[in-house]
Amino acid sequence: MDLPVIDLAPYLSSSIGEKTGGDEDGTGGLGELCREVSRILRETGALLVKDPRCTVEDNDRFLDMMEKYFERPSEFKRLQERPNLHYQVGVTPEGVEIPRSLVDEEMQGKLRAMPKEFQPSIPMGPDPKWRYMWRVGPRPSNTHFQELNSEPVIPEGFPEWKDTMDSWGHKMISAIEVVAEMAAIGFGLPKDAFTSLMKQGPHLLAPTGSDLRCHGQEGTVFAGYHYDLNFLTIHGRSRFPGLNIWLRNGQKVEVKVPVGCLLIQTGKQIEWLTAGDCIAGMHEVVVTSRTIDAIKLASEQNRSLWRVSSTLFAHIASDAVLKPLGHFAESPLASKYPPICAGEFVEEELAVINLKGNGES
Ligand SMILES: [Fe+2]
Repeated sequence: MDLPVIDLAPYLSSSIGEKTGGDEDGTGGLGELCREVSRILRETGALLVKDPRCTVEDNDRFLDMMEKYFERPSEFKRLQERPNLHYQVGVTPEGVEIPRSLVDEEMQGKLRAMPKEFQPSIPMGPDPKWRYMWRVGPRPSNTHFQELNSEPVIPEGFPEWKDTMDSWGHKMISAIEVVAEMAAIGFGLPKDAFTSLMKQGPHLLAPTGSDLRCHGQEGTVFAGYHYDLNFLTIHGRSRFPGLNIWLRNGQKVEVKVPVGCLLIQTGKQIEWLTAGDCIAGMHEVVVTSRTIDAIKLASEQNRSLWRVSSTLFAHIASDAVLKPLGHFAESPLASKYPPICAGEFVEEELAVINLKGNGES
């Protein structure tokens, strides 16, 4: 199954962007497009988009730099490690992140109950992937959830680092904001229902690097079955496939991201805000036969064998309250989603998986 691609250009160039309030009545094709966005998020937990502001060249520039970084020896990369800051900034070495399916017994029970063909790969230990954490966007000066006072970490010998990280990070946040507006309209909420809560959120650009030279055997689990705890996650196209997602109906789907497209996934915070109308998308990253084909091709072409994902976790602001919005407050499931500060919610989720500053669960 191929997921449909939503082109954001018509929305970006329309006057709907200037409208305020939630009275978008669906006149014309744009209302239809917004309903399509919310429908796909609801049914699949994932959305492929094309944003004319995020080009293939932007994505390539970012991937090229991250490949160059991850290819450096472990001793070099460990200079950017900040375990005392709970890995909130800088690098997280492989073997630190723990997939929830390894520690969550309730989840393990659910996995065993799945039909065989849709069951995820069961990881045997922590994820064998590196990650780099780079904060994007302004933070509130006055907050109950002060992030540790940690300077961004820039590796030596990468003069382009700050500019490349910031520019790709901001572009991906811009794409998320448009999708968040369109989804809000599609869900019958004011168009700024989500984006107003995202302002000054602890957004994180958190690309991963997996060494396919050491871990390129079919079946290797780079990221065990899990959901993301943030609002929406966005990725540029990776040079090596391997992402599987689970649709709401339980079906497992291998994601193919077309060239020039971005992939957005639903996290736990959008589930909270919609009282479960849209649920957090389950996913995993595993070496598949298509990954092996891409490894062969990259070897022949003398390209890097590090699989880089350009993941950005977009968050609801830490001091904002997560609770079902608008008509979702009337949902029979609303009581499952009691009001909680987004910052507190994140801390609770992270305690389960061994990390304090990561955007992901
Ligand atoms: Fe994830």
